[in-house]
Amino acid sequence: MKNFEKNAEVQKRAQKVLPLGVNSNFRYWGEGITPYVKKAKGSHLWDVGGNEFIDYRMAFGPIILGHAYDEVDNKVIEEVRNGVLFAMTGELELDVAEMIVDMCPGVEMVRMACSGTEATMHAIRVARAYTGREIILKFEGNYHGFQDYTLWSTYAPSEAYGSRRSPIPVPASSGIPRVLGEKIITLPFNDFEGFERMMKSFGDQIAAVISEPCQGNCGAILPQPGFLELIRQKTQEYGVVFILDEVKTGFRIAKGGAQEYYNLKPDLATYAKALGNGYPVAAFGGKKEIMSIIGHGVSQGGTYTNNKPGIAGAYATLKVMQNEPVIETINQRGTRLMNGLKDIFEDSSIPAVFNGYPGMFTFALGVESVTCQRDWSVSDRDYYLRLAEAAMDRGVMPDYDAREPWFLCYSHTEADIDKTLEVYAEVVKTVK
Ligand SMILES: Cc1ncc(COP(=O)(O)O)c(C=O)c1O
Repeated sequence: MKNFEKNAEVQKRAQKVLPLGVNSNFRYWGEGITPYVKKAKGSHLWDVGGNEFIDYRMAFGPIILGHAYDEVDNKVIEEVRNGVLFAMTGELELDVAEMIVDMCPGVEMVRMACSGTEATMHAIRVARAYTGREIILKFEGNYHGFQDYTLWSTYAPSEAYGSRRSPIPVPASSGIPRVLGEKIITLPFNDFEGFERMMKSFGDQIAAVISEPCQGNCGAILPQPGFLELIRQKTQEYGVVFILDEVKTGFRIAKGGAQEYYNLKPDLATYAKALGNGYPVAAFGGKKEIMSIIGHGVSQGGTYTNNKPGIAGAYATLKVMQNEPVIETINQRGTRLMNGLKDIFEDSSIPAVFNGYPGMFTFALGVESVTCQRDWSVSDRDYYLRLAEAAMDRGVMPDYDAREPWFLCYSHTEADIDKTLEVYAEVVKTVK
C-alpha cells in the first residue's frame, strides 16, 4: 500500500501560493489525495513520497512515446543550445510543418501554436473570418480548451442541459461573458436527428461546427458510424467550416489521427499533446483556401509559437513515429489491456461499456450503452473512482476523473499490462 503523507505535506505548502495548490483545476483531486510528482521515466511515474506507479494518465495524453524519452530529449537539448526564441522563422519549424502536412490527410497548410487552447482559439477566429458568420456549434461533453468561446456544456450536470430538442448552453465557469452564449449552439454528441434539425434552422448563420472525433474529455465516447460523415456532409451543404479538434486523437489513434482513421477531411484541424511528447507545441491547419486568409486581414501569432523546445520536441517525436511501429505497438498492448479489463468486469457481472481506441480508452460502469454525455452521466462514477483509488494504492494510476481516458504510450510494456490486469482483478473483487 502506498503512503500519501508526503503528498499531503506538499499540498499544504502549495496551497499557500497556488489556488487549490495546483496550476490547473484538473490537477486537484481533493484534500490529502492530490498527487505531487517527483519524476517519470517511460511508462512509470514517482510521486514526491517515492511511490511508484504505472502511469495511464500520460499527462492527459501528450506522452505518446514515454516519459523522458531519450531520442526526443536529446534533440531538444541539442537545439536549445543554439538559442530558444528569435521572433524569426527557422528551418526546423518548416520541417515540422511539412511533416504535419505529410502525415495528416486534410492538412494543406498549418500554423504552429503552443497549446491546444490556442490552436482552437485561432481555428475559431479563422472560421469566423472565412465565413463572415459568428455562431459556433459544439457538442455537450466535448472540451476544446480554456478559451471562452467553447467552454460551454463541458462538465455540467446533464439536468442543466435542458431538452435534447433545444439544449441550453451552460458556461463551465464564472467569468465567461454572457453575451457569448448568443454565439454558441450546443447539442448532444451522436444526435443525428438533432444535428440535421439544427443545421436546417441555423446552418446559414453558423461559422463552424467544432468537434472532437471521439469524446476524449467525456468517457472517450466514440462517434456512431456515420456521425462524423454527417457533420462533414451538412457543413459542406451550408458553407460551414468543420473544425476537427484532434488535440487528443492527433498522432495518437493513427499517425494521421482521426482524419486517417476515419478517412475524413475536415476544413480545419487542431493538434497539440502527442505532437510533441510533452513539449509545449500545438498546431492548427487545413485547407489552403481557408488557411490562406491568415495575414490578409486575419490575425494570428504569438511570441512563443515557434519555441525551440516545442518545435524540437515535435520534430523528434514525429521522426520516431515515422520510423518505428509506435501506433502498432500501442494498439497491440492497449487492445490486450482493454480486453483483459472487459473480461474482469464480465467475470464479476459488472456492466461496463468500453469506449475509445486501444491507445486512449475508458469504461463507464453500471450502464448498458453510452453514446453521449447525458448517458454517461448516469454511470456509476463513484464506483469507478473507488476502483481507481484502490488501483493507485497498488501502483496503477488511471486518472481520478472517470471522464478522462486511459492513455498508453510506446513505452508501456507487456509486464505493465500484466500487472495492471492483476491489480484490477484484485480491486474489482475487494471494492464493492
Ligand atoms: C480536445 C481538446 N482540445 C483542446 C484542449 C486544450 O489543450 P491545452 O490543454 O493544451 O490548452 C484539450 C485539452 O485537454 C483537449 O482535450
